Amino acid sequence: MTDSANTNTQSRILVWDWTVRVFHWATVLLIICMWSTADNHGIWKQLDQFVVANGWDEYPRGNMGWHRTFAIGLLFLLIYRIYWGVFGSTTARFSQFVKGPAAVRSYISALKERPYKPGLGHNPLGALSVIALLVVLTTQLTTGLFTIDVDGLESGPLSRHVDFDTGRLFATLHENSFRALYILIGLHVLAVAVYQFLLKANIIQPMITGGRPADSVKGHPTDTVRASLVRVAIGVVLSGGLVWLIWNA
Ligand code: HEM
Repeated sequence: MTDSANTNTQSRILVWDWTVRVFHWATVLLIICMWSTADNHGIWKQLDQFVVANGWDEYPRGNMGWHRTFAIGLLFLLIYRIYWGVFGSTTARFSQFVKGPAAVRSYISALKERPYKPGLGHNPLGALSVIALLVVLTTQLTTGLFTIDVDGLESGPLSRHVDFDTGRLFATLHENSFRALYILIGLHVLAVAVYQFLLKANIIQPMITGGRPADSVKGHPTDTVRASLVRVAIGVVLSGGLVWLIWNA
């Protein structure tokens, strides 16, 4: 997954740097893991037995233990993505894709043009769903940190800072924000399917490989979509440090 040779060559153009792609698919995977550990699924019991049998952990973590473990990963990814939205490659930056209502309206009216050609990065309409997903994900994780369950046994890492009733309120918010996340994910996947199959714009492949044929991109973008390794390293250290601080606050 190197980004060196694939910025603006004649044939292919880089749309998403590798960290955006890793963020995306790791987020998808972790959301599935968190959703399935929120309920009682047998697969996690088997993972528990495997971990204990190999001596990696003295006691089984149980479903909620795994839920909290995956939350650490998701929190790390989210903090990294927010950092990357400010200091990252061009298509990852919020300033590049978050636009006002006028840009959204003009994008919607240009949707009739055929053949439809996507621009480089998020379009102004899709950007709204990206921001909504990131905001709801942040709400989901923040409320989880303070959640207290009914018997007070399986609670979030920061729940000791709130009383029982407040912790239960966070639990309700945590459940409701998951419903919102569920709806947003549904709309997101539906929108991706519309672009992919109705508008015949291959947007899934760039989220996997990073690149797309240059002639399938609207205009002649000259921006450099490259993940600077120094910035990635700073982001990783910063996000890891913040996760540690939050978990141990
Ligand atoms: C748990 C489910 C999912 C979540 C939470 C999610 C979240 C996101 C987020 C936050 C972005 C913005 C990426 C960034 O700028 O960093 C994004 C973009 C994208 N996602 Fe997903 N996603 C999910 C599932 C999927 C699936 C199943 C597919 C494909 C089959 C998909 C395809 C895409 C594509 C193609 C983009 C780029 C859209 C564009 O060209 O502007 N996503 N997704």
